[in-house]
Amino acid sequence: MSSDSTPLQSSAVINEAVQTLRDGGLVAFPTETVYGLGADATNPMAIKKVFVTKGRPSNHPLIVHLAAPEKFDQAQVDWVAVLAPWVRDISEDALKLINAFWPGPLTLVFKKNKSVLGEITGGQDTVAIRAPAHPIAQELLRKFKGGVVAPSANRFGKVSPTSAADVRSEFEGELGLMVLDGGDCEVGIESTIIDLSSGDHPVLLRPGVITPKEILAKTGIQVYLAGEELKEGDALPRVSGSLKAHYAPTTPLRLYPPGRVLDTLSEFPDIKSRVAVAVWGSESSLGEDGHPSVHFEEVEMPSDSGAFASRLYRSLRDLDQQGWDLILFPEPPAGEEWDGVRDRLQRACFGSGPSSSSHDSN
Ligand code: TXA
Ligand code: MG
Repeated sequence: MSSDSTPLQSSAVINEAVQTLRDGGLVAFPTETVYGLGADATNPMAIKKVFVTKGRPSNHPLIVHLAAPEKFDQAQVDWVAVLAPWVRDISEDALKLINAFWPGPLTLVFKKNKSVLGEITGGQDTVAIRAPAHPIAQELLRKFKGGVVAPSANRFGKVSPTSAADVRSEFEGELGLMVLDGGDCEVGIESTIIDLSSGDHPVLLRPGVITPKEILAKTGIQVYLAGEELKEGDALPRVSGSLKAHYAPTTPLRLYPPGRVLDTLSEFPDIKSRVAVAVWGSESSLGEDGHPSVHFEEVEMPSDSGAFASRLYRSLRDLDQQGWDLILFPEPPAGEEWDGVRDRLQRACFGSGPSSSSHDSN
């Protein structure tokens, strides 16, 4: 999980991070999905710092991160104890999902316990919980012995960070922000979010690498898509990641249908002399003729959905740094395993361009 130059952090550094959290400070830490910007979930001032540092509106709820119980043979019993301070009731479905997928890239939304701070939940009566699998996140949470709120460690609306260096470049002005380095994130896109709070059907709020199909296969639980289950007059839960613009590079980004790079380009007549084109594997996107007035460069992306997700934010960040006039990505193929990637790419397109910071997203 960590690259050669970034060994896992020593216990002493993690102890220092625990102390920073206890003192009300922020600690950025690796998870298997993306890096998080962590704060003590019981400290309102620390939580406020998270919102201010990210530039995120205060009514966008945060995920509480918890340590996995150490004795996996008693997982069922232990998880109930771990969750008890945070959630009101834990259904059979919840336990099945937890036992199948935690620790891992799955966030569950429950009815919250009274004591959970409104600052975390954006005033809603639900709370989102996840147990990340990354060993550094686990060690930090176990030693901290409490819940840690952690949104992705990026400025509001920007691409989520998948390395410690990405976090540092997001928060260059924040001198003294502690960043734990756990190498590159394996999963590469944020956790799947499932809402269990209605007590009725589980509902998918954010697609990720854990898909409804995999959930059905492993647990027998049918997950509904957001909207499928809405009755007239129901309010949608507030998921800021569900807003149209998100994960956005400053360079304009567009998707092209299979084999149609030049057609897509012709929709942007004022573009452009330098265009980066992501292509599947070694497949060429352009055909033999290319384009007379445009310099293209192809960037290979893996044709496996998991490997693609793992590289997505890294590629967007790198391309954004390179001064292209336009970035083109291939439209992901149909199929649930691509839903997480498709969701992130569509939002990234929508929010991309020089004014992306003004879009409403987290
Ligand atoms: O993979 C992840 O989930 C990463 C890592 C760091 O754990 N975290 C992450 O946090 O993506 P953030 O804040 O960038 O996105 C959290 C999403 C937001 O879309 C938020 O609206 C939603 O979770 N959320 C949080 N609490 C919720 C609640 N009570 N009901 C519905 N959605 C909620
Ligand atoms: Mg985020």
